[in-house]
Amino acid sequence: MVETIQWTTDGVVMIDQTRLPREEQYVTCRDYREVARAIRDMIIRGAPAIGVAAAMGVALGVQEGADFETVCDTLARTRPTAVNLFWAIDRMKRLYASLDGLDRAHVVARMVEEARQIRLEDIDICKAIGSHGASLVPDGKTVLTHCNAGALATAGYGTALGVIRAAIESGKRIDVFADETRPFLQGARLTAWELQQDGIPTTLITDNMAGHFLHSGRIGCVVVGADRIAANGDVANKVGTYSVAVLAKENNVPFYVAAPISTLDLTLASGDGIPIEQRAAAEVTHVFGVAIAPEHIRVENPAFDVTPARYVTAIITERGVVRAPYEHSLAALGRGTK
Ligand code: MRU
Repeated sequence: MVETIQWTTDGVVMIDQTRLPREEQYVTCRDYREVARAIRDMIIRGAPAIGVAAAMGVALGVQEGADFETVCDTLARTRPTAVNLFWAIDRMKRLYASLDGLDRAHVVARMVEEARQIRLEDIDICKAIGSHGASLVPDGKTVLTHCNAGALATAGYGTALGVIRAAIESGKRIDVFADETRPFLQGARLTAWELQQDGIPTTLITDNMAGHFLHSGRIGCVVVGADRIAANGDVANKVGTYSVAVLAKENNVPFYVAAPISTLDLTLASGDGIPIEQRAAAEVTHVFGVAIAPEHIRVENPAFDVTPARYVTAIITERGVVRAPYEHSLAALGRGTK
């Protein structure tokens, strides 16, 4: 499976997700500013992977001897929606505070160790999500997914694609429909590539075909990832997820969200409080640098939407599968100890 992000003696090495699938190129971030740029420019993306990158960015900043608050603030200002970013920075901040008084070499070593540990934990978490979710996937049917919630969006294995991988590992004969995911094309560029690499039968469809196939009876379930889940079970994920969820309910197809506990934001009562990242107009007006719209056209480009909890059949986490009422089931899961 592809290596999304790694800590090396040269710096933080990431596969460049802006170039896939045409080129398999790796980028080495040698300081925390380069990590922040890589997150902002979506060289690395996907909520859990953003969290791992941020943790490694903090460790790099400490290693460089940069001002700690500046390091954390710079990384926190990269992308606002994925709560894993803030979760990871907070975890690194708590560790840093606990190391007060220790010599510099020891502090650096512990910060690096913690960032590497977050990466390793993320892979185990994805595998646990997969094993909890595998039984929900109907055998002999197609799974529809949106965006990329795979190995590329995590430290490895994936959340939504982890559920698919685990279902296949458990012997189920399934195939995948991947929404292309305009405007950034994570489905066409990343999910299609990642699943093809693993030999998982995959069909690429454009976003506006989802309703057609959900109505056809072929889709056994939808599985997507999440960037932030509010206390009532409202889910922020890649823009277009909401439309898929409504169409799934209309056609009696179960709609599952696969996400780690670090994606829960129980401080928010509902999805109304989730900050939605607005991205550059060029992502909409241009495809691979080629203009597809008239100059000066007004553009909106929200990167995420919020799916109300009533459309979510279940949320699959590393601690198990929870269902409505989410106020109770999510609170019972808790945010974890780290
Ligand atoms: O803008 P992106 O590509 O970072 O958005 C990614 C998604 O919306 C994913 O579905 C989500 O982060 C979950 S990744 C396991």
